[in-house]
Amino acid sequence: MIDSVLNIAFCLSTAITLVILFLPSQYQPGTSSATNAQHGSQKPKTSVQILVLGDIGRSPRMQYHALSIANRGGQVVIIGYKESDPHPDIVSHPNISIVPLHPHPAILQTSNKLLFTIYGPLKVLFQIACLWKCLAYTTKPARWLLVQNPPSIPSLAIASIVCFLRRTRLVIDWHNFGYSILALKLGNSHPLVKLSIWYEKFFCKSATAHFCVTNAMATVLKRDFALQAPVLPLHDRPASHFHPIVELDVRREFLASLPETKTARSSLAAGTLRVLVSSTSWTADEDFSILIDALLQYSELATTTHPQLPDVLAIITGKGPQKEMYLKQIVAHEQAGKLQRVTIRTAWLSVPDYAQLLASAALGVSLHTSSSGVDLPMKVVDMFGAGLPVVGWSQFEAWPELVTEGRNGMGFGSSAELSDRLVLLFGDDSRLESLRVGAQKESLWRWEDEWDPIAGSLLGLHY
Ligand SMILES: *[C@@H]1O[C@H](CO)[C@@H](O)[C@H](O)[C@H]1NC(C)=O
Repeated sequence: MIDSVLNIAFCLSTAITLVILFLPSQYQPGTSSATNAQHGSQKPKTSVQILVLGDIGRSPRMQYHALSIANRGGQVVIIGYKESDPHPDIVSHPNISIVPLHPHPAILQTSNKLLFTIYGPLKVLFQIACLWKCLAYTTKPARWLLVQNPPSIPSLAIASIVCFLRRTRLVIDWHNFGYSILALKLGNSHPLVKLSIWYEKFFCKSATAHFCVTNAMATVLKRDFALQAPVLPLHDRPASHFHPIVELDVRREFLASLPETKTARSSLAAGTLRVLVSSTSWTADEDFSILIDALLQYSELATTTHPQLPDVLAIITGKGPQKEMYLKQIVAHEQAGKLQRVTIRTAWLSVPDYAQLLASAALGVSLHTSSSGVDLPMKVVDMFGAGLPVVGWSQFEAWPELVTEGRNGMGFGSSAELSDRLVLLFGDDSRLESLRVGAQKESLWRWEDEWDPIAGSLLGLHY
């Protein structure tokens, strides 16, 4: 009897000792800066870990956070997948380091609905193990952990538990809602979607503060998620490599240098061609047929009742699964003679060339539809950064936070409306020009202007 009690006591105490031994180390104010102090440079003002459960290189907003923090004297560790190259300023920055996450086995990736419900949990188990190791052991404890949401599973849960154990302050950067994206895949009433709503609402409660991309999203977070901690809207702003080109001849020269304009040099020089730019992910979320239909209607009008309309060259950038399907449709329309006044070309441009294209084109088109209604397309933000007016799909709540109707862009809700906007703007240079002036004004407001008073002051990084 006594023997077995002793045995149990021994096992228990061993287990407790093991747990304590393996607990992640905690953040101690003033000591986490040891790395820099050793090199004799100035002590960092704070330490921030940035977690993104996605490709770091394709997470512009988290990279801007990292640069802003590091430039203001904070020490940054970015944790995420390293698939594409991160921003060169990140790679070369002395105050930023990257801790890559192991990618999950490729075999667990599927678009099949049934397989997704089996593979999904396996993938999550794998991610839990990787995240736990990275956040609790590989990295030193930091003052702050800034986590991108979505994806929320499992990052939000792991982040809030690790923050509790390490005495790190958690800040969630809401780009959208995890459940609304899952609902696109599985439908609103799927039990996993319901579970995901509960999960997101539960784990976000432990955060010290929240950033989000629109005022509309802040309203939803305060109302539906009943958050007590501060919810701070922090609007996306364009990257520094997007800026307007004011001189018309410089814009024309750049357009003429593109292979896509090879067959249109004379009309470009004569000013009878308008270049439209759109960037699409070629997925079911973005209905590209709206743009094709609108261009078909435009071409029809320009060949019949409105011959004074200029020719249009539509340059479409982006990669995605439905690209081939749409390209076939476009060729079929061309062969049927339905695109006489419109040319559609796809392009894959380097980052600087894309920035120049936006600054040189006449009009940008956004087909982004929103899963939650309260997120916004970064592509439109970049277009404004380049001083390019935008027409965009506007049937969601947050749209007016980005585009002021008639001042820097216009909204549409159908291909017929898009076609109307194209006729209106391409048929009247002064109208298009006044939108351009509005977009150029918009381009003056940059990320730092937005970031400093909100995120900078929360993190104690006054410039
Ligand atoms: C890096 O951080 C230090 C403080 O730790 C700061 O003095 C320095 O200016 C930062 N470096 C850059 C390139 O921003």
